[in-house]
This record gives sequence, structure tokens and C-alpha cells, in this order.
Amino acid sequence: MANKSLMAVRELRTTFHVKRGRKTYALKAVDNVSFDLQKGEILGFVGETGCGKTTVGRSLIGLSKAEAGDVRYGGVNILALPERQLREVRLNVRMVFQDPYASLNPRRSIGDSVAEAGDIHKLFATAAERSRQISETLESVGLDPSFADRFPHELSGGQRQRVGIARAILPVPDIIIADEPVSALDVSIQAQVLNLLLDLQKGLGLTILFISHDLSVVGQISDRIAVMYLGQIVEIAEAEQLYQSPLHPYTRALIDAVPKPDPKIKISDGLAIGEPPSRLEPPPGCSFANRCPLVHDVCRQRAPVLKDLAAGRKAACHALDEVTK
Ligand SMILES: Nc1ncnc2c1ncn2[C@@H]1O[C@H](COP(=O)(O)OP(=O)(O)OP(=O)(O)O)[C@@H](O)[C@H]1O
Ligand SMILES: [Mg+2]
Repeated sequence: MANKSLMAVRELRTTFHVKRGRKTYALKAVDNVSFDLQKGEILGFVGETGCGKTTVGRSLIGLSKAEAGDVRYGGVNILALPERQLREVRLNVRMVFQDPYASLNPRRSIGDSVAEAGDIHKLFATAAERSRQISETLESVGLDPSFADRFPHELSGGQRQRVGIARAILPVPDIIIADEPVSALDVSIQAQVLNLLLDLQKGLGLTILFISHDLSVVGQISDRIAVMYLGQIVEIAEAEQLYQSPLHPYTRALIDAVPKPDPKIKISDGLAIGEPPSRLEPPPGCSFANRCPLVHDVCRQRAPVLKDLAAGRKAACHALDEVTK
């Protein structure tokens, strides 16, 4: 795979102002996140619920308003573009959502839903051309063209998610941001939809940002994986390296929490190391310190930064700094 950055994200920060009683808190949903999306790769984003994965995805295309940072794509910082130009960008950077039922209009036929972006941007020269492209797109996600005349309630969950994906590839984009695209599906259907995404990525040359709270799902599909914890990337590496030699203690805990098929290996349910701290009043220092088996004094005082630790590997951890000194 060519190591060419298609989208370069730098110091992205998205804050929500939330009220609790009389107080308003600044919730740093995405806090200083930087990464490159390389052309043709599937980059997985994984982390526990509420860590900011969806907000990263939405902030990249201006659906959530970032307060700081740069998202370089096509030679410009797309966060600085006016809404009209952002809409053009969103034709090339499309989202697939977790709940295909909620994201499909129940009163629109599947064909109309699939053609929606093309209709809005007036991309079909004739009605016949529109029908042809709808049929072709349905076929490319494994659905018979006759699905065009059906409605969402007539479809199974897996079929609906195929429609969700079809909507995102007409016209074919550069990048797909897939936010928990299989989390609402049965495990047996999950594998089919993951395979479809892999086939499309190869066939259409897509680049995919794949978001999931489930490391085993992310591991099945990703070339590289970014691990998020409380708004920040704590580790990023090639998928194999991350699994075989996780560096950050949080990544290790996540891997230990994945149920193992081998019964001799201990199965733990969830992270065995307590709760994350409050997002509204985070403690100073490293946000993982209160759960970390390697915690040092410095961890409670100063937040670690994401650093290169080896070729293609980055992690944010004071304990690792000590090891690699
Ligand atoms: N519109 C909003 N207003 C206020 N707070 C928000 C909003 N959207 C998200 N948040 C908060 O920002 C944080 C990050 O949320 P986000 O949805 O990005 O997490 P996530 O990693 O996608 O979680 P999940 O795995 O549950 O989908 C959470 O604490 C959430 O409560
Ligand atoms: Mg989410």
C-alpha cells in the first residue's frame, strides 16, 4: 500500500458545552487528535463508549463543529470551508451510520434513498441513467436491483445496512467514514457486511475510517488501528503489531478484555480495572492514570503526548517513555 496521506488531521479539538444543574461544563469530546488517513487503507478507531469516536468522524466533515484543528484534504483545510463547499466535500467523504433503520427515510423507496446524493447534486443526466446507476449500485452491495422499489420496513437489518452502504457509494467517494456499521447486526450478519466493506474497498479503491467500540470487529477489517481513550488517541499502529505487542496499558487491557476462542486463555468480561474518570471534571495528568497498572507520580501531574516509539508506532504514555529512554 502506498503511504500517501489522503487526509491529514492535526490537533483536532471538539468541545461540547453541557449543563448540569446550574453549572456549564466544557466537555472535551475530542482533545488534540492528530492522524493521517492513508490512501487505500482501512483505519480502525476503537475505544469504549463515550470516548469520542463518533465526534471525530463527524468533526472531520463539519457535522460537529470543531473548535480547533486542521483537516487537510484535497489541498485545503476543509474545516475552514464555507458550508456550500463543505457539502461538495461531503460527496467525496461519506458517512455510513450504525442504525440503518434510523438513517433511512421510511417513506422513501430504497432506490430513491440510494440516489439521494446524486439527486441533490444533479448528477443524473436522464431518468434511465439514474435507474441504471441505482441498479448497478444495489448489485455492488449484493442486493437485487428489484430492491429499488421496496421500502425500508420490508428489509432485514443486514439488507438495510447494505442499503446504507449503497447510499454512501453513489457516486463513488474517496473516503467512507463508517461509524459502528455492524454494531446493530447479529454476529453472523456482521461478518457478511464486513466482507462487503472489504470487497468494496478493494474494488472501488476506497479509503475507510472504520469506527467501532469492539476491538475484535475492528481487528477483522483494519490495516491500522487507532485506540482512543477519553477524547485522545493513546496508541496508533499497524493492526498486527497492535495485537501482537500492544504498547499502551489501555490497549493491553482492551486486548485482554476480548473473549478468546481458546478456553485455556482466561476470558474476562470487560476491562477489569475500574471506571474512567469524569469527562466533565477530568483529573490533571494522564486520563488513564486511575486505571493504569503502570502508574507513576508524573502521570497524575502531566498529560503524556502521543510520540513516535518505533517505525509506524505511536503511543502516549509516560511509562513507555521510561522504557524507551
Ligand atoms: N451533541 C452533543 N452534546 C453534548 N455532548 C455530546 C454530544 N455528542 C457527544 N457528546 C459527548 O461527547 C462524548 C463523546 O461522544 P461520542 O458520541 O463521540 O462517543 P463515542 O466514542 O462515539 O461513543 P459510543 O461508542 O457510545 O458511540 C461523550 O461524553 C458524549 O456524551
Ligand atoms: Mg459513537
